[in-house]
Amino acid sequence: MTDHHDAKHEQLDRSRTDPEGTVLTTQQGVRVAHTDDSLRAGDRGPTLLEDFHAREKITHFDHERIPERVVHARGAGAYGYFEAYDDSLSRYTTAEFLTSGERIPVFVRFSTVAGSRGSADTVRDVRGFATKFYTRQGNYDLVGNNMPVFFIQDGVKFPDFVHAVKPEPPNEIPQAQSAHDTFWDFVATQPETTHMVLWLMSDRALPRSYRMMQGFGVHTFRLVDAEGRGTFVKFHWTPVLGTHSLVWDECQKIAGKDPDFNRRDLWDSIEAGQFPEWELGVQLVDEADEHAFDFDLLDATKLIPEERVPVRPVGRLVLDRNPDNFFAETEQIAFHTANLVPGIDFTNDPLLQARNFSYLDTQLIRLGGPNFAQLPVNRPIAEVSTNQRDGHGQQEIHKGRTSYFRNTLGGGCPAIAEGGTFRHHTEAVSGHKIRARSASFLDHYRQARLFWNSMSPVEREHIVAAFRFELGKVTAKEVRARTVERLNHVDHELAAQVATGVGVEAPAAVAGYHDDRSPALSQLGRPGGSP
Ligand code: HEM
Repeated sequence: MTDHHDAKHEQLDRSRTDPEGTVLTTQQGVRVAHTDDSLRAGDRGPTLLEDFHAREKITHFDHERIPERVVHARGAGAYGYFEAYDDSLSRYTTAEFLTSGERIPVFVRFSTVAGSRGSADTVRDVRGFATKFYTRQGNYDLVGNNMPVFFIQDGVKFPDFVHAVKPEPPNEIPQAQSAHDTFWDFVATQPETTHMVLWLMSDRALPRSYRMMQGFGVHTFRLVDAEGRGTFVKFHWTPVLGTHSLVWDECQKIAGKDPDFNRRDLWDSIEAGQFPEWELGVQLVDEADEHAFDFDLLDATKLIPEERVPVRPVGRLVLDRNPDNFFAETEQIAFHTANLVPGIDFTNDPLLQARNFSYLDTQLIRLGGPNFAQLPVNRPIAEVSTNQRDGHGQQEIHKGRTSYFRNTLGGGCPAIAEGGTFRHHTEAVSGHKIRARSASFLDHYRQARLFWNSMSPVEREHIVAAFRFELGKVTAKEVRARTVERLNHVDHELAAQVATGVGVEAPAAVAGYHDDRSPALSQLGRPGGSP
């Protein structure tokens, strides 16, 4: 079963070049005899404008850098394959890569979120886990993180959130090393961040290795079967090596000694033939059960408790080949939540809806125009035939006189396929046009409490220590106090312990909150609701 897996590499081989054994030329193929001295008038005279080789060489160098990703700038990636265990998901989806059992080529990029391209790997941060599946039905991107929830519920807040996370504009000093006032200011004013902030203060934010990290699609997506019937789905990646973290002291030391710790580990393990592996799991929820939960399935700050809907293993992912060129592959890969194949669709999650706009938009500037899907790492193995023409970086020579639909003249225009096309899931939608949030999105503490309650004593110690370290550096006392207030809605003991470490008074216990662990748990754990 290697043919499909190799299809992407066969395609990439046509773009891979090896300068070994060649002779130096200009971009025009003219052989160059001498590249150490520029052409000048006299051996101590000025350089001549007519030195086309020197000008071309320097001009290209001047343009070697492109904008780094606005978030997730630092990363590492590798090729591999995904194979579904069996065809059991064909009851739910027409996506062949989830049911065919063939080896589907993939590229996975892991990343940190906040740091710039040259930042250290072992910082306290969320990690990106983005997978591009090169399927026969087109490219499918699962652009996830190593935590199952997110900081905000609506993507319109994402620019505010990222501005708060990134270094402050006056000095651009990464905030992990100094007072992270703006991040905690955002947290303190936005209760919806509470659940994710607990994950961020936990050891999950310090993965020992990318090979030992879970991944999550985060949003509720939809599988769609041949009859157009939808089933809600959450995607989970589980590492075969188990989930392991560093401790904070190790992270700080490693950041100094080897800032590429996670990147090196991924590279070295693949070079050594110890191929990292994950199992893909899905949680499935019947559309009829959309409202059977005490949270909203469209709310990305919530997970579906596994006691309620078990994770069902469906396939495995293996990374078995390092890239040949970091820039061409890991840097130029362009993931997009809207890269779907037939059989998978969105939901109305307002965070997802914003992402569906944002990725293509940012890539238009990051990758310099509308033709970046033609770059080798982004090119589908499925046949591509559009009426799109021209633009910066166009690599194709389209023949024929027509590039519009519908034309009666023929010559150059693709036809509409009879079958195998993408069909948007049919969903009834009605309502008033309003700028508001559903009341079903407003419980910000119950799942945060569930997370805290699920921690072992040592994990709790680490969380408290992380809050004390991070929040303790915040210069504004009101921000520290307001954050502790929020934690008090999660657990009084947690709030009290953090308070003493960050120089604010411990708040009084919130009635009805810190003592209601068992009802909250049993409510979330009630059975039923999944197919
Ligand atoms: C990049 C995940 C929310 C905008 C990324 C990457 C990942 C990711 C993994 C890096 C992709 C790569 O390796 O190239 C997530 C997850 C989110 C989330 C799991 C929430 C569930 C958002 C939101 C927005 C956004 C709400 C905007 C409204 C971006 C942008 C990039 C990015 C602009 C850079 C893409 C590029 O330059 O190619 N995200 N993200 N993300 N994300 Fe998100």
